[in-house]
Amino acid sequence: MRIAVIGVGYVGLVTAAGLAETGNIVIGYDIDPQKVNKLSQGKSPIYEPGLDRLLERNLQEGRLSFTNQLAEAITHAELIFLALPTPSGTEGEADLSFVFQAADSIAANLCQIAEKEGILFPRIIVSKSTVPVGTARRLQRFFDERLPNQIYVASNPEFLREGYAVEDFLKPDRVVIGAVHPPVLEKMRQLYLPYTRQGNPIYLMDWESAELTKYAANAFLAVRISFMNELARLCEQVGANIDWVRLGMGADNRIGRRYLFAGVGYGGSCFPKDTRALAATARQYNLSLSLVEATIQINHLQRKYFWEKVQTYYRGNLRGRTLAVWGVAFKPDTDDIREAPALDILQWLLTEGATVRVFDPVALPNLQKQYPEWPLYYAPSAYEAAREAEGLLILTEWGEFRQPDWDTLKQNLKLPVIFDGRNLYDPKEMEKIGIDYISVGRAPVYAYSSHAPSS
Ligand SMILES: NC(=O)c1ccc[n+]([C@@H]2O[C@H](COP(=O)([O-])OP(=O)(O)OC[C@H]3O[C@@H](n4cnc5c(N)ncnc54)[C@H](O)[C@@H]3O)[C@@H](O)[C@H]2O)c1
Repeated sequence: MRIAVIGVGYVGLVTAAGLAETGNIVIGYDIDPQKVNKLSQGKSPIYEPGLDRLLERNLQEGRLSFTNQLAEAITHAELIFLALPTPSGTEGEADLSFVFQAADSIAANLCQIAEKEGILFPRIIVSKSTVPVGTARRLQRFFDERLPNQIYVASNPEFLREGYAVEDFLKPDRVVIGAVHPPVLEKMRQLYLPYTRQGNPIYLMDWESAELTKYAANAFLAVRISFMNELARLCEQVGANIDWVRLGMGADNRIGRRYLFAGVGYGGSCFPKDTRALAATARQYNLSLSLVEATIQINHLQRKYFWEKVQTYYRGNLRGRTLAVWGVAFKPDTDDIREAPALDILQWLLTEGATVRVFDPVALPNLQKQYPEWPLYYAPSAYEAAREAEGLLILTEWGEFRQPDWDTLKQNLKLPVIFDGRNLYDPKEMEKIGIDYISVGRAPVYAYSSHAPSS
């Protein structure tokens, strides 16, 4: 099939490369000329395991190309995927302006292409952006007014996880397609057949159900995380260990093991904005999704709760202290820092007058680009970040942080204390090594100092 992908960010780029991988001819279009330039040279503007090879192969085979000319992307496309941002609006609702601006340009260009070049055939506009219930219907009306009987809208929410995006796209757990016209549903099903050969389901449904499925999935995962974070606070009070509780719960098949890790809270470009948008949709219908509202609130508090542990340890005096931070990305294996807990914590450290030495395996360029005014020391390695620091905060569970060389780390740290927002280490081990260790939902270890919080 001939396909255009509008917006080649995290989702659009993986979608474009993933669709080319099964033989489709795909053109990716983006308004960012630098991105298009880089991509045309075979360089990925984002860090995503496996993406470079996928890009290289499909560019070389001539199945994948990129352009900043919308007309070039869509002239011959039977399917036009929208992978545009849907950020939070002022009341938490999804801001659809990117989607409708792009729809407007697509409609205008398709009219011109039909008039000037006589190229006119039915096309499917596929929404991959996470959009509130009712958007596909709105898009259909929008196109019907401008190009009657030529455009069919399909909702095809994306469930990929950053860090595993290529794998998730090529072998999805399930594919969800919402559309009205049976031939559209069938065409979309055909498109995804090569990705579901192992028997994973392709669910064909109506627009509204498809749109809501995406929000429901993200909100439910966020609920699990917030549940565990709230429970972790109780664990600390009653002397329980959240890790044991998690293991004991998660072994129950009805519950499952994933998304049960307590920590410094979730971040990223999806859970925070999607939970807000779902709650906002409910409010528009005079409903309150109180579980989702609570999830958002707990997540917000969790960062503060972690931060208070840091402040308490230093008795509220961070001015002039040097602290190390490991991990900025909102999760490992991505350079995405959108709404990452680290952003709040870094800002609070700087506001309190601390000197901060920060390390992340891939996300530092994004941090520097987004917050050039922050006076941070960008360390070339984890151990360099720790040098002469009076404490280390771990905010992303990168694999390389899991088994540090304790001798080197202890030598580098001026004060051996770790605040672990991701529960990477065993408190008993920390006791043996002689490190003060403050984690989440587990008893603190004061092995180095008798530094129990001041009363
Ligand atoms: N990132 C994820 O893990 C993920 C997962 C599932 C769904 N989603 C959803 O997918 C959508 C896209 O998310 P993302 O993370 O890829 O965003 P992104 O910001 O990484 O990418 C969006 C791209 O769209 C481009 N763009 C903006 N306006 C444009 C226009 N008018 N024409 C062409 N290009 C334009 C931007 O330059 C950017 O490259 C969002 O709705 C998001 O909620 C994201």
